[in-house]
Amino acid sequence: MTIGIMGAMVEEIEPLLEFFKEYEVIEYAKNKYYKTNYKGHDVIIAYSKIGKVFAALTATTMIEKFGIEKLLFSGVAGAIDEDLHIGDLIIATKLCQHDLDITAFGHPYGFVPEGSVYVESDFLLNEFAKEVAKEKNIKLKEGIIATGDQFIADGKKKEWIRKTFGANALEMEGASVAVVADALKVPFMILRSISDAADMDAGFDFDEFLKSSAKNSADFIISLLDKVIEKS
Ligand code: ADE
Repeated sequence: MTIGIMGAMVEEIEPLLEFFKEYEVIEYAKNKYYKTNYKGHDVIIAYSKIGKVFAALTATTMIEKFGIEKLLFSGVAGAIDEDLHIGDLIIATKLCQHDLDITAFGHPYGFVPEGSVYVESDFLLNEFAKEVAKEKNIKLKEGIIATGDQFIADGKKKEWIRKTFGANALEMEGASVAVVADALKVPFMILRSISDAADMDAGFDFDEFLKSSAKNSADFIISLLDKVIEKS
């Protein structure tokens, strides 16, 4: 089996590279892909750079060039829900693009013809994640993640995203990875650890907690990888 693990920023994959220690570096399409073998399975790791376009490129490359059969995303997010605190973990049941707007033509926010507002993540991978959380006594929330090409540091905008999409957390890549993986029929899951509350302090909090929250997420992904391998 070949499994892909992606993040958006170097901080989000650094703990993974430190864990695997030895890997081959393959340069492709202006990015680096790190290939390692873990328990007899190939693992491809990469960070995409921030935003939906780069994330879509990396997810597509992982699937089409490297042949990954499952895609795990690890990174940080801004909390929408009040019960999500810095460092907490959330997996996306489904994802949407909060900045996709052709409402001028009577469509709902996040919708384009022949698409859908929400893309669902893989049920089984999410079940594995819940099993890991239970076994390790880690709090893991499930919810809707909203994605857009904007760093949200504004309480009003956050409220709009909550109200419009029912979203529990927000970030800048998940939904584009979801669109790609869904279209190419690769099971995927999106895990995020909270770095900020998408409010006026978000910029400061993000800088302060990016590394520690990214590590929380990456550590969980390693346990999830063990579970995926054990169950496959
Ligand atoms: N990722 C982490 N925090 C975020 C925020 N406030 N807005 C967008 N993406 C994020």
